[in-house]
Parts: sequence; C-alpha cells; structure tokens
Amino acid sequence: MPVSSHPLSKAEIDFWKSIRKQFYLKDDVTYLQGGTVGPSPRPVIEHVISLLQELESDPLNNQGDALLHPIVEESRRKLAMFVGTDPQRIALVINTTMGMNIPVHGLSLERGREILMSDQEYGSIQSMWEYIAEEKGLEVRIVPLPTPPENPNQVIEAFAQGISDKTQIVVFSHVYCSSGLVTPVKALCRLAHDYGALALVDGAHAVGMVPVDISDFGCDFYTSSCHKWLLAPKGVGMAYIPESLESIRPATLGFGLNQHGSAARFDVTGTKDLTHFAGLGTAIDFQKEIGWTEKIRPYCLGLAAYLKSQILEKITTANLTIPIDAEQSGFMTTFTIPGIDHGKVSNYLWQNYQIESASVQAGNKTVLRISTHFYNNYDDVDRFISALTNILNTRTDIKE
Ligand SMILES: Cc1ncc(COP(=O)(O)O)c(C=O)c1O
Repeated sequence: MPVSSHPLSKAEIDFWKSIRKQFYLKDDVTYLQGGTVGPSPRPVIEHVISLLQELESDPLNNQGDALLHPIVEESRRKLAMFVGTDPQRIALVINTTMGMNIPVHGLSLERGREILMSDQEYGSIQSMWEYIAEEKGLEVRIVPLPTPPENPNQVIEAFAQGISDKTQIVVFSHVYCSSGLVTPVKALCRLAHDYGALALVDGAHAVGMVPVDISDFGCDFYTSSCHKWLLAPKGVGMAYIPESLESIRPATLGFGLNQHGSAARFDVTGTKDLTHFAGLGTAIDFQKEIGWTEKIRPYCLGLAAYLKSQILEKITTANLTIPIDAEQSGFMTTFTIPGIDHGKVSNYLWQNYQIESASVQAGNKTVLRISTHFYNNYDDVDRFISALTNILNTRTDIKE
C-alpha cells in the first residue's frame, strides 16, 4: 500500500498547501475534526450555490428533468463507481442514520433471535437496533473489541465469540468512530454468512478514507455519510441495497413503492432540496481529479503515520489505541494519556490554540481522536503536538 514518506519535497508541500486554499477553512483554525464533519471544497459549494440560484428561476421545472434530476442521477452513477457497485443498487439518503433505518424497519426480524454488534458501534446505530429488538423480541448481543487489536484476526475473533446459530444480524463498522480501526470487512461478512446471519456494514467513515469495493465485500447492506471524508455537502449519504433485500419495505413510505429493480425507492422521499445531492458528484470529481488512489490516500496515510510517530516520540506517556499498520488504520489517529481528562484537553486545544479535536469513548477507554485529511498538512500535526505538550506541561486541572 503506497504511503507518502516524510519529509515531503518542497513541491509536494506547496501542492498540498495550494489544495488547502480551495477550502473555506479559516487560516487560524487547525481543523482535525473531519471525522465528525468534513469541510466541502469551494468548487462543491460554488456549484451548489449556482444550482440553487438556477433552481429558483423556475423551481417547478428545474427540480426535475430541466435541471436537477439528471445531475443527481449523475451523482448516483459517480458514487456507485467510487464504491464498486451498480447505480441501481444505491439509494441516496441523508446520512448513515437514515441509511441504517432501512434494514431496521425493513427486515423481518425473528422473535428469539439475536443481533450481534461490538461495544464500539456509533451511539445512534446501537440504540436504533436496541429499540427495534425490544419491540420485536430479539436480544442485542454486544462483544468487546480489542483496542487496539494486534491483527485483523483479533477483530474477527471478537465477533466470533458472540456469534451463534441464533444470530440473525451482524452489524459492524467498516471504520470505527471510536478508535479509527479499519476492520476486515470481507472476513466479517463471511463469518456472518457462515452462521446464516446477514452482514450489515456501517461505513459512515469509510467512503473517502479507505478503498470501498462493495461488490467484493459480499455484505448484505452498506451505508455511509458522504459529508465526512468524501466532503460532499452536509446531509448527503448513501445506502447500498443488494437485490436480495430489494423488496423490503422502505423506512419512509411515499412514491415509487412498487418500483422494484431500483434502490432509488429507498431515496429521501417527497419534495426536497436536490442541490446537495447534485454537489455530491462535484465532491467526487474534486478528489478524483487530484487522484484519490494515487495521491490523496498515500498523502493521508503518510500524514497519519507522521502523527503516530510524533505522539510516540513527544508524548512519552501516551498509548496509541489504533494499530500502526495501514491495513488496520486510516486517517483517524487515537490515543490515551493515562491520568488525563481527554475532554478537558480537547477543550483547551480549541479555546487556547483553535485546534479542533475530539474526545470520544472507545469501549471502556476515553481517547483523543485526531482526524487528518488532505486539507491538512504536516505543520498542522506539529502545531497539534506542540499545543498538546504545552497543555500537559502547564495545566494542572486536566488530571483525573
Ligand atoms: C460510525 C458512525 N456511524 C454512524 C454515524 C452517524 O452519521 P450521521 O450523523 O451522518 O448519520 C456516525 C457519525 O459520526 C459514525 O461515526
């Protein structure tokens, strides 16, 4: 897997700094929180604004075939190609939360069976499955994830501990929001299928961070939020619905209910603003024109590797909660500092240094989570490490 090595050449540094100028991010803000929500590049927002203006010149026709409808279908095609599936298998939803509601409400859940997930699924995903499980008489079984695992087998092993013939559904994240861990999706899908269970993947963080090839994964469902690493406008998500699930009941009922043969019947329904979905295609073009595979991903893996090395070298008490290798880690780096309140550190980073970071729960640990994308550069990492060192050396109220 190609990873850009540090130090970069002056030409490379200048190139990524020029890319950063294509964002609206303030110069005095160090944005290391793209894991929660990514900044859309200027060309994406400019396209959306110009479409909004054009829409309003003739809203009736322009929301349909005269303007927006073909552009949205083009976005669907570009996204399908980016994630390795057919456009007919992609529903355009608002986000992962809405996407996961499709199987939650659509599948026939069998009383007495089990839904298996880890202790690090995103809060809303865990709670929607707990809610429906209680209503339909199923058990939610939760297995602890090693943080960090030594190898991908330990992740498979963790799920294998909880799976049985009673398992109807396995829900897991492609990239964990808690630790940044990248999971062996294919092997986890195989494990679910070995027990006759469905494999449903929460890919909220994956699209735009790790290679996503849905047709190779063999999953029964995949959903993602395109406003994170793909940098699409806010409120743009996707759901992959295979032919085997295509006949299930949509979570929201509206037009197109009997239009079998297309996952578009699970799209956001009713009158809506389509300009954001039109901007999705521009966001994909933006990254593809730079070169997602050849440039963006190697650069970001290099940046994350540099961040990890700086944490280990300069914050001597820190423990990484993400594996070092690029097979199990992507663009989110997490670590703990024993005896330190990470929430307070994250607040000081923002209040005193204008550095956006996150303090999140990873199983029974609280960790600091640093997201680095291609709008970040090596200076951002140095600024973060220096600010963190100052806080640790000078603040006495951060001790637990
Ligand atoms: C792993 C994971 N799943 C689901 C979600 C929900 O995403 P959204 O708020 O875009 O629906 C998040 C949000 O951060 C997440 O990290």
